[in-house]
Amino acid sequence: FVRPWIFIRGVPSMDFLPPEGPLEVAFAGRSNVGKSSLINALVGQAGLARTSNTPGRTQELNYFVPDGYSGNAGDLPPMALVDMPGYGYAKAPKEQVDAWTRLVFDYLRGRATLKRVYVLIDSRHGIMKNDDEVLTLLDKAAVSYQIVLTKTDKIKEAGVPRLIAETLEKIKKHPAAFPEVLSTSSEKADGLEELRGAITEAVKQ
Ligand code: GTP
Ligand code: MG
Repeated sequence: FVRPWIFIRGVPSMDFLPPEGPLEVAFAGRSNVGKSSLINALVGQAGLARTSNTPGRTQELNYFVPDGYSGNAGDLPPMALVDMPGYGYAKAPKEQVDAWTRLVFDYLRGRATLKRVYVLIDSRHGIMKNDDEVLTLLDKAAVSYQIVLTKTDKIKEAGVPRLIAETLEKIKKHPAAFPEVLSTSSEKADGLEELRGAITEAVKQ
């Protein structure tokens, strides 16, 4: 997480994925849950991934890597962070929503170098029906994932441990879920060190 990170590619459909190289760590979640903000907070670069108040901001799979690697064999970055379009945004035209959903689902199911998915859940809402569908898809594809609660600054501090306990209960039936739930606030820079540690461990395995 030390070098400056750079944006290398926006992928509008599966045909445009980069050749498989560095291990990929993806951030998935409902629209507006705070995926792009969390990536910026993790790398400490405010404007790296574009964020917005309006759901549906991120419309492609956006690849970020640490700068300074040639990308040639033997000189690959240790990992790429992949920001994803959100799911569950009902207001965009149906065709658009269908295309994003297809892209997200196809990528999550079919990428050999995808090492770990962080599924972001808004602390105010907890796991919702469409989140649960994504978890089931990841279980079926045997892709390892971990739940990350976002925007904890928006709920009472005492509510966080309770929400973590409830979330752990809900993911018991999901075999590919990592049995630990992280909580973060990009706004307050809470939980970032723990998440960086988790990512570093995940790409080492
Ligand atoms: P899409 O790309 O549209 O799917 O959204 P996203 O999941 O990338 O969310 P994004 O990072 O764009 O953030 C959405 C909104 O939530 C923005 O207005 C952010 O400022 C706000 N936000 C993100 N993280 C936090 C947080 O930790 N706390 C608070 N209070 N607001 C946050
Ligand atoms: Mg986004």
